Amino acid sequence: MSDGGGTGAPAITVTGLAKAFGANPVLDGLDFSVGTGETVCVLGRSGTGKSVLLKTIIALLDPDAGRVEVLGRDLHALDERGRLLARRELGYVFQGAALFDSLTVYENVGFPLLQRRVDDRQVRARVEEVLAEVNLADAIDRFPSELSGGMQKRAGLARAIIERPRIVLYDEPTTGLDPLTTDTINELIQGLKARHGVTSVVVTHDVRSAFSIADRMILLERGRIAAIGTPAEVRRSQDPLVRRFLGLDGDAPGV
Ligand SMILES: Nc1ncnc2c1ncn2[C@@H]1O[C@H](COP(=O)(O)OP(=O)(O)O)[C@@H](O)[C@H]1O
Ligand SMILES: [Mg+2]
Repeated sequence: MSDGGGTGAPAITVTGLAKAFGANPVLDGLDFSVGTGETVCVLGRSGTGKSVLLKTIIALLDPDAGRVEVLGRDLHALDERGRLLARRELGYVFQGAALFDSLTVYENVGFPLLQRRVDDRQVRARVEEVLAEVNLADAIDRFPSELSGGMQKRAGLARAIIERPRIVLYDEPTTGLDPLTTDTINELIQGLKARHGVTSVVVTHDVRSAFSIADRMILLERGRIAAIGTPAEVRRSQDPLVRRFLGLDGDAPGV
């Protein structure tokens, strides 16, 4: 099956990636790449290491073996300062919105810039711009508790793109959302790709969303890649495990 379906050099290259916690092997030798501007969805049941994979890509976790290259750089080889700088190219949408309850949407979304003491006027302009992009302009002065679940996710997305990253990693961006709100989030993910050529890795167990936004899909199972390919390729898989997980034989979400 194809690998690196985007254009040009891969944005992310993962080679022989392994990670265990004590006696619990979580990632057991992963090899794949994500092309520039490509959207790759990573599927797998709960506890298979999807979040660990994203955290390893962004170097919040160090691998036990293997390599991750992001835009040609090995983040794990950098010191903390180097990692912080390199992470500006990477947006991370956390599982759950992970907003600070005591801060307004403006302060939450502008947080990375406010931390760096970027001039207030510039921060406000940039926050207004990204909030408009996620259709949340009216909520700028509200607190997270005053937002619906979908609005919180959009605020988390706005924060992830505040530094105009070339790559965005999403951890379960549509989990717990109703189908309409899910579609809105999926459209935003696709919009970032269309407007800014953003490369995306979307971790999800929402098969329907994966089939609608993925250029390629990866199915993780027991720390390994059980299937990788375009939605059309994955649909043709004869592996019973893959077919069962993706609901390909019944009234499937993705078919
Ligand atoms: N910081 C950690 N310390 C120990 N075990 C962890 C840690 N993070 C994740 N794990 C374990 O790794 C496995 C995969 O977790 P995770 O990546 O969160 O799964 P999911 O695919 O649901 O996102 C689980 O067994 C989890 O308990
Ligand atoms: Mg997870």
